[in-house]
Amino acid sequence: MAGVVDKEFISPHAALRKAFSMFPTGVVAMCGLEADKPLGMAVNSFSSVSLEPALVAVCVAHTSSTWPRLNSLPRIGLSVLGSDQEMLSRRLSSKAADRFENARWQANEEGAVFIEGATLWLECAINERVRGGDHDIILLEVLSSQLFPEIAPLVFHQSQYLGLSAAP
Ligand SMILES: Cc1cc2nc3c(=O)[nH]c(=O)nc-3n(C[C@H](O)[C@H](O)[C@H](O)COP(=O)(O)O)c2cc1C
Repeated sequence: MAGVVDKEFISPHAALRKAFSMFPTGVVAMCGLEADKPLGMAVNSFSSVSLEPALVAVCVAHTSSTWPRLNSLPRIGLSVLGSDQEMLSRRLSSKAADRFENARWQANEEGAVFIEGATLWLECAINERVRGGDHDIILLEVLSSQLFPEIAPLVFHQSQYLGLSAAP
């Protein structure tokens, strides 16, 4: 029947992952300082949530080994990656021993780590954690922001890295 979703279509994880990948996103490097070393992971589940208070959200998988370490830090830096930072996104989502090799980054005094060459930096502190199935939804309070409007963002769509182009 037209309009009825075939449950079989979305039941396997791979099919659902593919369905979710149809929604284009940016890529965010979520990073902090642990024992003076940068620690981070790539996320595309970023969303703006609230203006007052200033809140954004990311969703982290319960399987992530990086999130439990970021979770205990006083500050987290979010960097919206630039269109030429595909390799960095790959490293920040890999099991590479040093995810920050060749990366240009800086930490502020509170320990938020920011990626140079990104189009937006948000300095954040964890506000709330909400269970969402096999992920946790993390609400982050935005404490400060720095915009780099001349830098075009990296786009992730159907598991591919792309850039923006004007609508026809
Ligand atoms: C473009 C992209 C977006 C991702 N988004 C998320 C995300 O929103 N949440 C998440 O938990 N993992 C996400 N990942 C996976 C993590 O970056 C990474 O693979 C995961 O943290 C595994 O490493 P870990 O065990 O060190 O955490 C994403 C990966 C890529 C390449």
